[in-house]
Amino acid sequence: VTEPDLKGRHVVVSAGGTREPLDPVRFLGNRSSGKQGYALARTAAARGARVTLIAANSALPDPAGVDVVPVGTAVQLREAVLKASADADAVVMAAAVADFRPAVYAAGKIKKKDDQEPEPITLVRNPDILAEISAGRSRPEQVIVGFAAETDDVLANGRAKLKRKGCDLLVVNEVGESRTFGSEENEAVVLGADGSETAVPHGPKEALAETVWGLVVERLR
Ligand code: PMT
Repeated sequence: VTEPDLKGRHVVVSAGGTREPLDPVRFLGNRSSGKQGYALARTAAARGARVTLIAANSALPDPAGVDVVPVGTAVQLREAVLKASADADAVVMAAAVADFRPAVYAAGKIKKKDDQEPEPITLVRNPDILAEISAGRSRPEQVIVGFAAETDDVLANGRAKLKRKGCDLLVVNEVGESRTFGSEENEAVVLGADGSETAVPHGPKEALAETVWGLVVERLR
């Protein structure tokens, strides 16, 4: 039996991967399936929370008892997170958000010209949603959790990212072509702004989600 230790709380979870369109048929995207974020949403609901799940391009079914807000791009994800987090007790950013988007959106499909080299794609920065909500908390006691997807120097990069983003907790997981993205399992170290370090061994994404909510609950008290 799960303890309803999030009863009366509103939590916001982002999941999936943003898609940044180049033209009506093409986009820049990433390998996130949404599984980790959906596991966070399901487990929070089971612990009694009201849950808003901001879902970027995930093919997963809506979890029962969760408000799902579908989004496509990083800019749309930002709007949805800012709106939902206004009265939230905790925000967990598990979505893989594109740092950059194409500078130009072509209204018609980009055509291949036989006698020409392809045009380079120019990128511009997307807003950093996690840094923004951490810097301007809508409620001072709000707990903000980020994820860090790293391929090398995982812990050193994680610690630097925690400082840079200004969140309370950062879940550092290692990713690769077939690692973490899309799989049923994950393993991570959860770094706290208070210096704490919680290692979560390889296991179902639900298990990592439960550890994250446990650490959030400690900080809500
Ligand atoms: O969806 P799955 O297939 O289950 O895979 C899970 C996962 C690997 C996607 C997930 O566990 C994970 O690591 N999510 C974060 C991926 C990511 O974008 O990491 P990052 O290191 O690039 O970003 C760090 C943090 O800043 C993240 O919380 C991200 O949501 C946030 N961010 C990033 C860029 C940006 N412009 N705005 C942001 O808010």
